[in-house]
Amino acid sequence: MNTKIVKTDTDNIEEIQEAGNIIRQGGLVAFPTETVYGLGASALDEQAAAKVYAAKGRPSDNPLIVHVCNRKMVKPLVKAIPKVAEKLMDAFWPGPLTLVFEKSDIVPKGTTGGLNTVAIRYPNHPIANRLIEAAGVPIAAPSANLSGKPSPTLGEHVIDDMDGRIDMIIDGGMVGMGLESTIIDVTVEPPMVLRPGFITYEMAKGAVGQLNIDQAVLKKPEEGVKPKAPGMKYRHYAPAADYSIYKGEAEQVAKKIIVLANEKSNQGIKVGIITADQHLKLYEGKLYENIKIVSLGDLDKPETIANKLFKTLRDFDKEGTQFIFGEAFAEDNVGWAIMNRLTKAAGYNIVDV
Ligand code: TXA
Ligand code: MG
Repeated sequence: MNTKIVKTDTDNIEEIQEAGNIIRQGGLVAFPTETVYGLGASALDEQAAAKVYAAKGRPSDNPLIVHVCNRKMVKPLVKAIPKVAEKLMDAFWPGPLTLVFEKSDIVPKGTTGGLNTVAIRYPNHPIANRLIEAAGVPIAAPSANLSGKPSPTLGEHVIDDMDGRIDMIIDGGMVGMGLESTIIDVTVEPPMVLRPGFITYEMAKGAVGQLNIDQAVLKKPEEGVKPKAPGMKYRHYAPAADYSIYKGEAEQVAKKIIVLANEKSNQGIKVGIITADQHLKLYEGKLYENIKIVSLGDLDKPETIANKLFKTLRDFDKEGTQFIFGEAFAEDNVGWAIMNRLTKAAGYNIVDV
């Protein structure tokens, strides 16, 4: 398939109308959102959803998030809008928050991975919103990566994974956040966080009073608790390298990583290190020169860390890195989502130092 690639930094271009037509007619278009790039199809067309699964190589029991461009679009898609959902929408929409509702009959099970619920998000990105409007239908969109790979935060990541597999890619440059949306199930009382994201537990709890967490998110897969968001059970975001995370006091962690990294590098193995701005000095002058060390950003600004995380994993892949030694990050606020993604990327390979 020939994929049309359109580069733009505004929502005011003709190709967005063309992209909307493609989606309405059952085709696939990748587009930027404020979290990560999405791979869009009509949410009301079962066959279009099937194409999304095929393009990503994604298991078909893993439901898609349905994107809307205003709150009015929610009502026909759901059985009911609970009060807590209204509160969460008031506080965080448009934005990086997905809500799970009981689905109405117009949403095909092909979109929801066979579930009777539907996940809905109103993104805060002009291109995404203009595209949904142009399509005239809600857009089902998973992250626009091949299944198992890190989510795309740049147009070139989408091109790497999806060129030749879909009808169009809208390359809107770097996304703002770099982590997928927080998912909250509002079909249960109190509501429950199924996936951590930029809207933190504390923020969401502030809006609704009581808020639970799906315990599976806090456990390792071998503990056998089945996550309520089907996608959370898969190995995800995984770089090709053997990635391990070291947790503990910063200087001790750096010492440990330096020894391990130099040892591997000495054997001719391509090694990468993931750290933060504040810790770079701990490694200075202590690493063999062909070791690549990357700071994800400023520990006091976790949004900088979130933003570079998936890109860094992809860059290591492109460079043929075989081993990645990474630091752990604090798990408070957005840090919970950051460590959730990194832990999966590392296949739960976390070492206490
Ligand atoms: O930020 C985001 O949410 C991005 C952008 C493109 O909007 N999308 C995204 O989609 O991350 P995806 O497909 O990569 O992840 C969707 C997650 C999966 O873990 C899936 O199992 C869960 O949402 N999910 C979708 N529908 C669900 C439902 N009805 N009940 C429970 N979990 C659901
Ligand atoms: Mg994904």
